[in-house]
Amino acid sequence: MKPMSRAFVAGATGYTGREVVRRLVEQGMSTVAHVRPESPRLEQWRRGFVALGASVEATAWEERAMAESLRRLQPTLIFALLGTTRARGRAARRKGGPLETYESVDYGLTMLLLRAVKSSAPAARFIYLSSIGAGSRSANPYLEARRRAEEEIRQSGVSYVIARPSFITGPGRDETRPLERIGAVVIDGALVVAGFLGARRLRERYGSTTNVILARALVRLAFDAAAVNTIVESDGLRI
Ligand SMILES: NC(=O)c1ccc[n+]([C@@H]2O[C@H](COP(=O)([O-])OP(=O)(O)OC[C@H]3O[C@@H](n4cnc5c(N)ncnc54)[C@H](OP(=O)(O)O)[C@@H]3O)[C@@H](O)[C@H]2O)c1
Repeated sequence: MKPMSRAFVAGATGYTGREVVRRLVEQGMSTVAHVRPESPRLEQWRRGFVALGASVEATAWEERAMAESLRRLQPTLIFALLGTTRARGRAARRKGGPLETYESVDYGLTMLLLRAVKSSAPAARFIYLSSIGAGSRSANPYLEARRRAEEEIRQSGVSYVIARPSFITGPGRDETRPLERIGAVVIDGALVVAGFLGARRLRERYGSTTNVILARALVRLAFDAAAVNTIVESDGLRI
């Protein structure tokens, strides 16, 4: 596609991340999938991503190490697609591992990545997967972590695209996530009714999406000069 251009995907093992990697490779982009080094499935992910045509980096989530990797790779696009859930946080606590919260992962690791980009690949475009509802202050710790991350990205001087999807659902998730699935079904159902009543705009804004549709939109936006330094809400993520 573009000569000398390369994408680095953090959160590549996620439901959205793996589709972003697939889409980037399909588009002919040199693509680096980041997998955390302590992942119990590191070798499995490595084989899978290499089979797709991507390469794999297992840099530690440590600022200096991340900055060194980015300096070496010189990516032009950075996708920040990572985040935890309450269930993952509880599982990490049970295993006695490091604390995994919205603050430490969704905010903390995204900020670590942003600082590494600023120091080592400052001309890259930062594509951040946020969430609908992250645009204003909230008592919800998840949305508040996302709002603060967005604010720092906007003020960082790094060029960005911020995406705010509604529920991301569909087949092939590793975890069952019953609440998200039920949430998506209930919301979509309510929005069908709203659609009948003429509130199509509401349905476009809050209806769920799939990882495949979202990944396609994220990759399109990453290359779109008109999308630089913009925030794209869920209705703009279905095209
Ligand atoms: N799901 C939704 O309905 C929804 C809606 C709006 C916004 N979002 C946001 O969109 C993002 C992507 O969603 P998704 O459903 O694709 O996520 P996902 O499948 O849960 O993937 C999360 C990614 O974050 C990584 N990660 C989690 N904890 C980590 C840690 N402590 N250290 C390093 N990496 C860690 C995971 O790596 P491992 O595989 O190594 O654990 C994985 O690559 C999420 O951040 C989410 O908040 C989600």
